[in-house]
Amino acid sequence: MIAGTRTINYLRISVTDRCNFRCIYCIPAAPFKVIAHDSIARYEEILRIVRIGCDMGISKVRVTGGEPFVRKGIFSFIRRLCRIPQLKDISITTNGSRLNRDKIKALMDMGIQRLNFSLDTLVPETFIRITRRDRFQRVWDNIMAAYDLGMSPIKINTVALKGFNDNEIQAIAGLTWKYPFHVRFIEYMPMGHTDVGEAQQILTRDIKHIIIAAHGPLTAVPKGVNDGPAKTYRLIGAPGILGFITPVSSHFCSECNRLRLTARGTLRPCLLRNNETDILTPLRNGADDEALKQIMITALKDKPLDHSLEKRTARDIPLNHMTSIGG
Ligand code: GTP
Ligand code: 5AD
Ligand code: SF4
Repeated sequence: MIAGTRTINYLRISVTDRCNFRCIYCIPAAPFKVIAHDSIARYEEILRIVRIGCDMGISKVRVTGGEPFVRKGIFSFIRRLCRIPQLKDISITTNGSRLNRDKIKALMDMGIQRLNFSLDTLVPETFIRITRRDRFQRVWDNIMAAYDLGMSPIKINTVALKGFNDNEIQAIAGLTWKYPFHVRFIEYMPMGHTDVGEAQQILTRDIKHIIIAAHGPLTAVPKGVNDGPAKTYRLIGAPGILGFITPVSSHFCSECNRLRLTARGTLRPCLLRNNETDILTPLRNGADDEALKQIMITALKDKPLDHSLEKRTARDIPLNHMTSIGG
């Protein structure tokens, strides 16, 4: 699939907007509306959309949430996804709390080569402040289980926030001395309706200063085929990789190869723009594959060439939580 000069081969699927965590940068602590069960795309429906996408050039899929592992039946869905021959890369972004060693092993046996874990701190108390759940040890144990089982690469996503984990940037970056993980620092995107704001944002420039002061120089590492928006580096001699995801300070739109399928069955060509095209309703109303392909093509015509978080308009501020879009 083509959007302007970009080839779209990567579909991010949010399988649920529900999550067992309440990360301060993602979901408000106060009650908020979740999508009604009937309005959430069923697995069968998602698989049909993926198969049609594959006919049009999709070869990579990422399963996201919310937290994908809170949805019932997720393992058999992933197993079926792994059987789609055109998919060369299937990965999952998870908070890691609902897994255990056996489940990780089962995922690997199905063909999941890599997992991205969200982990913003190495301090259990700070973990509670950020996620509002007391699950540090469980998440850490699962990251270690994945490592022990030979999953590779393991990516760690850390959203850097002043007043929460800014004092841990050097320790978190230091994980790459010990483990071959890809540790990615992500600039906080102000998506609205969360309990932090731009005052907590830390930009990559500052994160890099802290890391270099503590650990020495960074050398650039060429992007691997499996690297998305992160710019990648290495501390000299370290087995792990440091990545920086810079949606605020430096846009990567010109390289963006993604389309998103939200939990409510809409196609969203850009995380940061509210343009969504409903594909679930036509599918439920009996549209054939050709009609669904046309819907995908039309949705992609709306993929913006660039975004600007600084100069956004009301139209651009995501009304939906990250949890229903999938990050
Ligand atoms: P890889 O394929 O392993 O590189 O995954 P990824 O980094 O694309 O996915 P992940 O789900 O781990 O997301 C990491 C961070 O990147 C999250 O904060 C996402 O919201 C952000 N992100 C992913 N894709 C985009 C995008 O297209 N635009 C923006 N602005 N942020 C994105
Ligand atoms: N800004 C940046 N990253 C975010 N994520 C969730 N909300 C935000 C935000 N407002 C990240 C999570 C997860 C990934 C899917 O998105 O840390 O790793
Ligand atoms: Fe849940 Fe991930 Fe959002 Fe945290 S960032 S609340 S783990 S969906």
